Amino acid sequence: MNKKSLYLIIASVLIIVIAVIVFKGDKAPDSTQEKEEKAQEAVYTMEEVTKHNTRDDCWMVINGSVYDVTKFIISHPGGPAILQGCGKDATELFETRPMGSGTPHSERARKLREKYKIGRLAE
Ligand code: HEM
Repeated sequence: MNKKSLYLIIASVLIIVIAVIVFKGDKAPDSTQEKEEKAQEAVYTMEEVTKHNTRDDCWMVINGSVYDVTKFIISHPGGPAILQGCGKDATELFETRPMGSGTPHSERARKLREKYKIGRLAE
């Protein structure tokens, strides 16, 4: 085998490796975009939300969207107060924080909650 064909083989292998990496990256099943799209599609009834009413499995509705905040409970800056919303329509609690400052949550909190959105409430 001469040097030229060796270089050709190496170049081909490199191209294939790069193509595989790029292709796989495109189809990443857990991409944020896909997760967000799924969250827009899923529709839940209040009956379903009500079943997720514990600190180990906590869903809540805020302004018609459904959130699974189970993993967030531990880091909620307001501590266990968030548990009051598990399995409920927590819109009022979220907007009034009766056990805290009595004020609505901040813009930052509104952005943060989107990370936990799993769908919307059936009409
Ligand atoms: C998706 C759900 C929620 C998210 C993402 C969230 C996020 C946050 C964040 C980021 C803060 C820090 C202060 C701020 O930025 O406003 C906070 C504070 C607080 N949150 Fe939540 N929260 C949620 C649900 C709830 C619920 C259901 C309650 C129930 C009443 C609650 C009660 C509080 C309280 C009492 C504080 C402490 C500040 C105060 O006393 O006003 N949160 N939350």
